[in-house]
Amino acid sequence: MKDFDIHSFKEILKTKYLGKEFIYFNSVDSTNDEAFRVAEEKPLNGTVVLAEVQTLGKGRGRGRGSKKWLSPYGGLWFSIILKPKISPLIISIITLLSGLAVAETIKESLNLDAKMKWPNDILIDNLKVAGILCESEIFKNKIKKLVIGIGVNLNLDKEDIEGLDIEATSCKIESGNEVNREKFLAHFLQKFENYYSKMIFPSELESILNKIRKIIIPIGSNVEIKTESEKLSGYAFDLANDGSLLVKINKKTKAFTSSNIEYIRIKE
Ligand code: BTN
Repeated sequence: MKDFDIHSFKEILKTKYLGKEFIYFNSVDSTNDEAFRVAEEKPLNGTVVLAEVQTLGKGRGRGRGSKKWLSPYGGLWFSIILKPKISPLIISIITLLSGLAVAETIKESLNLDAKMKWPNDILIDNLKVAGILCESEIFKNKIKKLVIGIGVNLNLDKEDIEGLDIEATSCKIESGNEVNREKFLAHFLQKFENYYSKMIFPSELESILNKIRKIIIPIGSNVEIKTESEKLSGYAFDLANDGSLLVKINKKTKAFTSSNIEYIRIKE
């Protein structure tokens, strides 16, 4: 495997603005943390920060909650800096939209069926292949900085993911071939840019949400949800238009956002 080839990536990239400003690291603590540092210096909207490896905690970047994200050589670890003029309420939609674009990129470039586990995991055959960590700085109810961190286990081998406490896989393991990282990233960015530009229009958002509804887990299942204060059981039946998960609990509908749950599990 070779280092990410910025030159060939720029040749393939067909976006209007996403990834036009591209910051590359051989090694960085976390591309999300670096993106927030870069965001202090008035970066271009759509700047992408990518690293071959992340080293925040023993070869790991940041995952959701206080978890770490295994980030050895061979993966695709990157963050996008956006300056959206939208309400903070829509951030959970952006996480779902990123997940949809990752799942569709996997499907279209590798012909593998990827699903999204609400709120931020991408799975192939129930094994985690990618994760999204969308972080923001909000001031007076306006988004000041928005960073979307995406980790795709692209060319990781079995040895790389052995010993993880979650059941994981990689695109290379599932497809049997090494995946071209430059093409994959360019494909994803184009998809994401397209969805992101449309989401401000209600009818477009509705059709994007319908695409998400088709690939999202655990809709249609009984679930156990752990929030900060309690453990609840119910039936997950839909996604609301703000990206929250709708669950029937004792005949009442409750909406969960990613920030108010610790975990969600499907009950057999
Ligand atoms: C999760 O599923 O817990 C989210 C994982 C997000 C990992 C990515 S890798 C690139 C970016 N930089 C980080 O430190 N984390 C995100």
